Amino acid sequence: MMVEPDQNKNLKSEDNLLRLVILNPPDKGHEALRSMFTQIPYVWLQAECTKYEFLQEVIANQTEPHVVVIAIDADLEKACAAIEKLADNMPGVGILAISKRDDGQAILKALRAGAKEFLTMPFDVDVLANTLNKLKKMGGSTENTPKPGISKKEKTITVSFLGSRGGVGCTSLSVNLAATLAADPSNKVVLVDLDLALGDADIALDLNAEYSLSDLVSNIDKDKLDLGLLNRLLSRHSSGLALLPHPINVDEATQITEEHLKRIIALLRACHTHLILDLSKSFRATDICALAMSDFIFLVVQLEITSIRNTIRLLSTLDAYPEISPKVKLVLNRMGMVTDITKEKAVELLGRPFFWEVPNDHKAMMDSRNSGTPLVKSAPVSKIQHNFSDFADEICSKTKANKGVKSFWHSFFTNKS
Ligand SMILES: Nc1ncnc2c1ncn2[C@@H]1O[C@H](COP(=O)(O)OP(=O)(O)OP(=O)(O)O)[C@@H](O)[C@H]1O
Ligand SMILES: [Mg+2]
Repeated sequence: MMVEPDQNKNLKSEDNLLRLVILNPPDKGHEALRSMFTQIPYVWLQAECTKYEFLQEVIANQTEPHVVVIAIDADLEKACAAIEKLADNMPGVGILAISKRDDGQAILKALRAGAKEFLTMPFDVDVLANTLNKLKKMGGSTENTPKPGISKKEKTITVSFLGSRGGVGCTSLSVNLAATLAADPSNKVVLVDLDLALGDADIALDLNAEYSLSDLVSNIDKDKLDLGLLNRLLSRHSSGLALLPHPINVDEATQITEEHLKRIIALLRACHTHLILDLSKSFRATDICALAMSDFIFLVVQLEITSIRNTIRLLSTLDAYPEISPKVKLVLNRMGMVTDITKEKAVELLGRPFFWEVPNDHKAMMDSRNSGTPLVKSAPVSKIQHNFSDFADEICSKTKANKGVKSFWHSFFTNKS
């Protein structure tokens, strides 16, 4: 389904994004440069170009970017010619030249050609973010708030749930953690159902979603997706939680690529405090992409043979991904249920402790799933909901921006009792 952009689209929201084009010819480490930009939540990577000669053509097909980043090392002469042409044609665009060499002559040449800033790699994401903001401001934009509608300037927390077998509890944990976070009015939370073929997060929330991930993807392909449109395509639950459901037709799942997902996650981060991703169990390219973009990866385990065996397999596979492996944490679901294996034995087999344990509560969970009502509403004072509240607090307290901030849930329960 194709959705036409609203004529009265929310330009203010769109202005909070920093539109970026990267000119990054294939070179050693060029992937590393690219991935730095995807870590800045309000950056909208409009286009990437790999040849200096094609820059003007690529930009001509886009809304004018705020910043163009040009990696100069592959060919200094051609890079400077591209900078000069861009500076002449689009004086409002901030040009950032980037090099791996600390070569004074090259820096001078790029600046004389029209680059407004220069960075030598490697540099921190914070340095990059500051430089991009400075360039955007120079270009005349007055708006520099990264998350529209959100007062606090915090990094968006992205959390993935990955299962060690079917039915292990990924959707239950994703939905209930997301709904718990969304109950704090200072949060803006979105749940993305990345179980693209067979997901059921919409059923768990009893939402009859009008649009799905496929609608976002078709609008990206037609270069029509902006923040206003994205917000209109999300489904809203009464808890305040936003949902981006899996495609309606199963075969549409195959059309969603990593590139689509990167763009969607970057846009969602620009206007939410928390992204919760319910992954598939097929280890698709989109799942790996989501894992790489997550701050927390919760691998959900139960105390039985298949789950433990698959967890060992998954851990050893994920070890090969340096951008993923350090973020993986084990979550033990249905603790207290009669099981094949003791927790101690599982820890011994897995070689690491559980980061979190969610208790077994068959009745509360079944009622919640059958009624499509998250536990925070259907069983707010149950032990399992307390556990989700503590889980939400634990995640928030582990992130730097929230350190020392008194938790919403802590005060909620303290005031109640
Ligand atoms: N902590 C829990 N206590 C009791 N029941 C639970 C718990 N967690 C999940 N369940 C139940 O386990 C079943 C499977 O859960 P869920 O659908 O969340 O798993 P999943 O990993 O998403 O499954 P799928 O492989 O189909 O995506 C559901 O019936 C749910 O109610
Ligand atoms: Mg599921």
